[in-house]
Formats: sequence, structure tokens, C-alpha cells
Amino acid sequence: MPIGLGIVGYGGFGAFTADVYARMDEVRIVALTDTDANRLAEGAQRYQARAYPDLEHLLQDPEVELVAISTPPWLHVPQALAAVEAGKHVFLEKPLATTLEDADRLLKRVREQGVRLSVDYVLRRIPIYRTLQKLIKSRLLGDIAFLRLENVASNEALHANHWFWDRARSGGIFIEHGVHFFDLGNQLCGVRPETVTAYARNAVDGRQDRVLSAVSYENGVLASFYHAFDRPAILEQTVLRVGLDQGNVTVYGWIPEQMDVRGVLPEEQRGALATLLGTDLNVLNLPAPEGITGATAGQVVEATLTSTQRTADYQEAIRLGMADLVRSILDPHYTPEVTLEDAYDSFRLAYLSQRSLETGQSLSF
Ligand SMILES: NC(=O)c1ccc[n+]([C@@H]2O[C@H](COP(=O)([O-])OP(=O)(O)OC[C@H]3O[C@@H](n4cnc5c(N)ncnc54)[C@H](O)[C@@H]3O)[C@@H](O)[C@H]2O)c1
Repeated sequence: MPIGLGIVGYGGFGAFTADVYARMDEVRIVALTDTDANRLAEGAQRYQARAYPDLEHLLQDPEVELVAISTPPWLHVPQALAAVEAGKHVFLEKPLATTLEDADRLLKRVREQGVRLSVDYVLRRIPIYRTLQKLIKSRLLGDIAFLRLENVASNEALHANHWFWDRARSGGIFIEHGVHFFDLGNQLCGVRPETVTAYARNAVDGRQDRVLSAVSYENGVLASFYHAFDRPAILEQTVLRVGLDQGNVTVYGWIPEQMDVRGVLPEEQRGALATLLGTDLNVLNLPAPEGITGATAGQVVEATLTSTQRTADYQEAIRLGMADLVRSILDPHYTPEVTLEDAYDSFRLAYLSQRSLETGQSLSF
């Protein structure tokens, strides 16, 4: 019997995710609420679900066992808390919260109530990022040394009064958006962050549109996360560069379309790398670089992975997140892929990045 799902917030992303949930066997959309009456009517009709004027009424529906919250960030904690108090499980859109106190309060009540809550961190479930994670774990190209994210995005759909720019409501770029990449960075580094130092530049109208967070991890990995919402969509670009002791990886696209791997490894390990990447390796014979004393000739292996189905990858990541939460609801012994601790740490790194901007100080994690 599928779990009864109530959708809270049927805006841009709420609608995108609802289409994914509607195709799942594990859940059944039974109810919706949105403060926009037109959106609510449209969603209720599309999924043949009950339309409620507010969350309070939706939570009284006994068939709603799980709620998916896709409202803007400042509503996440109050709405998730109401759902938890009503004994419902929660699939929460990022960010977990906009303040640390709120995040603490919510997690405390989730544990006390014995319900399940997960945050929709999609990036860790995108196939190219999963392969990158496997590559790092395999240590075939050595340990991870650094991570550098350059994420420059469009501001065209974000008019000056959009909640996105209001840090009291969105939390700011690190919290509302960067948290995706902090979550990915934490996964790839495999340990907790140690210190955080952030910088920003504000546009002339005061919008904080370019931010950079420099993070050191417990295993010595140095990472930088740059985000900007300052250009036309046709110039959007996301590049993630991961340095390994014996190579480097470059991933293009925030839902990636390409990953380039390049490194040095003994001939007998090349088969393992090709299997892990699922593609043939190109072997280059490189002469010794000129003018560097002691430099030697050598072989470098290269591979390129591509994905031509970004939307399908995105939808599948959402499906996997919801399916994992349902599994953890049905099996109390199952540890979900996104634990409460993970969800909290990714948010905390985003929050401390924003605090570092506000205080001008480096902060310990
Ligand atoms: N995981 C991802 O990849 C991803 C991608 C995009 C957005 N998001 C997140 O999804 C959330 C929503 O973003 P969006 O772009 O869809 O925003 P949006 O503004 O398009 O939609 C928000 C919806 O919530 C409704 N709403 C507002 N107050 C409400 C209330 N009190 N009760 C019920 N409904 C209410 C609005 O009417 C609107 O329909 C944000 O937290 C955002 O960060 C996540």
C-alpha cells in the first residue's frame, strides 16, 4: 500500500517534484495545499487530490502520512515542525532552515517524535557525481587534495523584490542555494569541515549577488565554493574541479553533462579505473616538460563521461531521495542515505559561511 503524501507548496519546484512523486509506486498524492488558490486548484485537479486551504487542515487528513514541503525557505521550519507535531514524516526541500536555532529545534522534535525527516539534496544522487565519489573512495588516483566550485548563474528570473534576495527570508545565497554544493563537498571529502571563511561583493542596489566560501576539512582538503547570480542565463556556467594526488577531475554543469578525468596510475590498475568509470581510457605518452630539472617523460590516462539526459537525471535524483525516505519509514532499522546529521552538517556549513560574511571572521565548524 503506497504511503499517503501531502504536498505543501505547489510553485515552480513543487510542481516539478509532484510529477516525479505521481509516477512512484511507493507514494500516492492524496492532498495539496498552497496559498495561491489558482496553483492549488491546478495541482489538485492534476493529481485528483484533496485541496486544503492551509497546512493545518492538510495535517488533519488521516490519509496524509508524509508531507513534502516545497515552500520558500523561511517557512520550512515552522511547517515541518507542525507536521512533526502532527506525527507526520517530512521530505523537506533544501534548505533545512534559515537559522541554526531553528534547525536545532526541528531536529530535536524529529528525534523526540520518532518520525523520519529527510532533506532533498539532489546532487549526491546524480550519476556523474556518484561516479566521482566512487573514484575518490577508490583512491586509484590518490587522495583528494582540493575542491574548487565555480557556480555562476542567471539573475534574470530573480526580480529585485524576489524572496531570494531577502536574507531574512531565504537565508542568503549560501543557505538557499549553496547548501547543495556544501552537501556534495562534504560527501566528496568524506569528513567534517574544520574552518570556514567567506567573502561577498554586493551589487550597487545592495543585493548580495557574489559570494565565496573557503573551507578547510579535517583531512586537510582545501575547498572553495563560489556562487554568483549576476548574469544572463545564456552565460550560466558551473565547473567543479577536484584535485587528487595523482590527477584531477573537472565536472561541467550543475546537473552535470560532462566529467573529464586525467591522471597517472600504474598500468595494472588501469582496468580497475576503466571499470569504475564505465568507459575506455585514452593513454597519452607525454615527453618530459622542457626546462624543469629532473622532470621525466610519462604516461597520463584520460577519460570523458557524458550525460545527455540532465532533466531525467534530476528527476531520478528526486525519486531516489523520496524512495529512500519511504524505505526508512517502513524499516526502522534502515539508515537513510541522508541522515539527520548529514542534513544538519550541510546546512551548518552554509549557515557558518553566511555568519562569516556578517562577522568578517573565520569560524570553526
Ligand atoms: N532541490 C532542488 O534542486 C531545488 C530546486 C529549486 C527549488 N528548490 C527549493 O524549493 C523551494 C521552493 O522553491 P520554488 O522555486 O518552487 O519557489 P516558488 O516561489 O516558485 O514556489 C513556492 C510556492 O509555495 C507557495 N506558498 C507560499 N507560502 C505558502 C504557505 N504558507 N503554505 C502553502 N504554500 C505556500 C507559493 O504560493 C508558491 O506556489 C525552495 O526552498 C527552494 O530552495 C529546491
